Amino acid sequence: MTAQAIEEVRLTAFKSFRREAFRLAPLTVLIGRNSSGKSNALDGLEVLSRLARGEDIAEALESRRSPAGPVRGGLAGCVPHGSDRFELGCSVSTEYGPVDLDVTIQVEPEVQIVEERLSGPTATGRRDVLVSGAPSPHLGDIQASWHNGKPGRNPSGPFRSSRLLTSQLPLRLAGDTEGERDCIWNATVALSALSRAFHLDPVPHLMRQYVPSRDVHLRRTGENLSAAIGQVQRTDPELFRRLEQLLRGLADHDVEALTVTKSELGDVMLALREGQLGLTPAREMSDGMLRFLAVTTSLLTGGGGLDLGSTTVAGARTANERSLMLVVEELENGLHPSQASEVLRLVRQASAENGTSVLITTHSPALLSALESKDHEGVVVCWRDRQSGTSRLTKLTDLEGYPAAMAAGRLGEVITQGRLSSAGRQQVPDYTEFDRLLGIECGGRGS
Ligand SMILES: Nc1ncnc2c1ncn2[C@@H]1O[C@H](COP(=O)(O)OP(=O)(O)OP(=O)(O)O)[C@@H](O)[C@H]1O
Ligand SMILES: [Mg+2]
Repeated sequence: MTAQAIEEVRLTAFKSFRREAFRLAPLTVLIGRNSSGKSNALDGLEVLSRLARGEDIAEALESRRSPAGPVRGGLAGCVPHGSDRFELGCSVSTEYGPVDLDVTIQVEPEVQIVEERLSGPTATGRRDVLVSGAPSPHLGDIQASWHNGKPGRNPSGPFRSSRLLTSQLPLRLAGDTEGERDCIWNATVALSALSRAFHLDPVPHLMRQYVPSRDVHLRRTGENLSAAIGQVQRTDPELFRRLEQLLRGLADHDVEALTVTKSELGDVMLALREGQLGLTPAREMSDGMLRFLAVTTSLLTGGGGLDLGSTTVAGARTANERSLMLVVEELENGLHPSQASEVLRLVRQASAENGTSVLITTHSPALLSALESKDHEGVVVCWRDRQSGTSRLTKLTDLEGYPAAMAAGRLGEVITQGRLSSAGRQQVPDYTEFDRLLGIECGGRGS
């Protein structure tokens, strides 16, 4: 059976992207020069994921009250320069074929949905199950029609234009007809897959505090790591031992045990028992170790150990516990290069054990070199189009110079040492363009 997972993200008009898309593999790695658009691409997925929770758009993307804070650049920052709206989409794989969701959001003068379409499998074949019509800004609504599986025109009615129409569909329809049930099913598939995308952005200094022991679902910054690991210790001793084992592999000195200490008030803080040094609380633990613990805890607990936010989708909580899409920027941050293959091993393990898929950005040659050649299918190169200035996405394996590059060495080495450019200089075809896209210094940068 095909897992229901996001298989494509469409950046139709979003920040520096126009009509670009990328496909998601069990491990997707975005690479490219600084400011090429890697984080913008991740922001696109983050925006869709927040909208899928069914909150008011401005609240979902700009609120400073939510634990995740505003999306990078805020709502206005999502809009490509010179425009007043942004457009995003995604496809979610199912055993009956993909469910596609596309949405256009106007930001000025009003924040509102101006177009939305949800399409996917139904009892009578592939159909548009929800299609928006004309918005009426003064009323704060937008007309939309939905599939009801009966001959003749589909029914239509007003939806609130301040939140994703797809998120309103399951509450709006009674599910009396097969067509309505198909609509609800398609909406639920799209919303629950999106709400299972979790962006982890561990901030070591926030992980160094005591936290209430009940605060067990790991948040984006990892600030409640101690309580999350305390929960693992209580409920899954086997997994706790694995975390401990992984930590031992990380440091050069003797790490005897991982423990969770309790304050008089019942708050918890992680600690390490380090040979002759005694007990080292999280307050004194190294940045890299704390980050590593946040990443490994997320990977190994799957959706069940994370704070995936509230969701209006019926049944989504159970789905959350099954599979997860973990997003981590610059995964290598704080890690010694020798750990690159260990982290990739964990990613593969998480994918095999609990269906977790991982989307990362990286600048790390060590991590790129640690990728196996079958992982290269999931490497996406982000680059800027010289003429239009927009960001572009190309699969690494589709680049013309790819076979020659792989013959020249491992991916990380090719990128840092510019092996391809020196090897390819006398060759036809010329690999300057390949070098430019990958940011290889001695390859025709100024050309
Ligand atoms: N709303 C927007 N419209 C057009 N371009 C934008 C918009 N917002 C950001 N950009 C462009 O995207 C760039 C930032 O891209 P991004 O943060 O994705 O880079 P990156 O590839 O993650 O780089 P790094 O490796 O340095 O993190 C900005 O410098 C700007 O050129
Ligand atoms: Mg970035």
